[in-house]
Amino acid sequence: MNGVGNNLDFFEDDELETLEELDDLEEPDDPEEFSLECVDRNNTVENNLGFNPFINSIFPVLFINDTLKIISSNKACENLFTGFFKLEGTTFIDAFSRSFTQHDLRDIRDTVVTGKNGYSWKGIARVKSRETITVETRVYLFPTDMVSKNPVEFVVMFDDVTEENKRLLRSVFMSLLEASKLKDNDTGKHIIRVNHYSHRLAEELYNRPGYDRIDADFIDNIGFLASMHDVGKIGTPDDILNKEGPLSDWEWTVMQEHTKNGAFILSTYPNPMAKEIALCHHEKWNGTGYPFQLEQDMIPLSARIVAIADVYDALRMERSYKPAFTHQVTIEKMLERKGIQFDPALFDVFYSIADEFDRLYEKNRDT
Ligand SMILES: [Fe+2]
Ligand SMILES: [Fe+2]
Repeated sequence: MNGVGNNLDFFEDDELETLEELDDLEEPDDPEEFSLECVDRNNTVENNLGFNPFINSIFPVLFINDTLKIISSNKACENLFTGFFKLEGTTFIDAFSRSFTQHDLRDIRDTVVTGKNGYSWKGIARVKSRETITVETRVYLFPTDMVSKNPVEFVVMFDDVTEENKRLLRSVFMSLLEASKLKDNDTGKHIIRVNHYSHRLAEELYNRPGYDRIDADFIDNIGFLASMHDVGKIGTPDDILNKEGPLSDWEWTVMQEHTKNGAFILSTYPNPMAKEIALCHHEKWNGTGYPFQLEQDMIPLSARIVAIADVYDALRMERSYKPAFTHQVTIEKMLERKGIQFDPALFDVFYSIADEFDRLYEKNRDT
C-alpha cells in the first residue's frame, strides 16, 4: 500500500474529521520501492513539454501527478522549504497537511482529481517549524499541459510573501506606536531597548527545559511587540501622563486603564501576543498587579518576559521621579522583587544573562 492510496481514501471517509489524522498514515513498507515510483526531476515535465522551464526558475515550484504524489521540485522550492520537510517521495497532502486549512486541502484534492475550476487552484500556505519563523506563501496550482482535457501532471508554484506581509502589518502598528510616543514621556530608545531585552530573554528560554512553547515565531514576535506595551497611553489624559509627583487615587485608576486601552488598540493584530503584552505587563507574580490581579502562570509568558525587560530599563533610565540607577543597583532592586513581582524561574534566566542587558542598554543609550 502506498501513501497516495491512503490519502485519497482518507478524503472519501466522512468519519474522519480532521486532517491531523493524516499523521497516522502508514509509511510505505519499502521506501526504496516507493521512491522508484517518483519520476526523476529532469524527466518529469520534459515528457509533456519537451523541456522543463522551471528547473532553474527563481520561482519555487514542485510537480505533482493526478494522485497528488510529488514527483519533483526545483532548487528554489527546496531552498524555500529546507528544514521543514522532505518533498520528493511524499504526497502533497503528507508534506503540506499542516500548511493548509482542511477546506483548502479538500479543494486541492478536488481540483486535481475532478478537474474542479479547470484544474486550477490558488490560495495561501503557512509553513512552520519550531526552529524557523512561519513562511507564508501564495500558492498557484495548474496543469503542466494547459491544453489537455485530462491533465496528469500539475505545477504547484509558491510565492513567498512572508517579509512583504510582515512589513505591511508592522508598518501599520508602527504608525500607532509613533502616535502614542507623541504623548508618552518615555523616549523612543526605551521601547527599542525593551524589544532587544525581550528578544534576548526569549531566545535564551528557547534552549531551556520547560519552554517548549517558545519557537522562532515567538522570539521574532516578542522582539517587535514588546515595544507596544504602553501603546494604550495614547488614551491617557496628558495631565495625568505628564504629572510630576505622585498620582491621586483616581488618577492612578485612570493611568492603569492604559493596559486595557492597549489591548483594545491591538485587538486587530493577528497574533494574540500583542494583546497579551499590552494587557498584562503590569500583572505581578504574586497577584497584586493590574488590571486583573492575575498570578503566576495565569499571566501570559510574553507579558512576564516584557515585565522584566520593561522594569530593567525603567530603573536604568532617569525619570522625573527617580535618578538613573547603575546596572548593579538595578539588578539588586529587581532581585528583591523576584517571586513577588517577577516570575522567579524567568528571573533566574534573566539573572544569568543580565550582563547582556547591560550591554544592550549601553549600546542603545539615549543621546
Ligand atoms: Fe505600562
Ligand atoms: Fe515601558
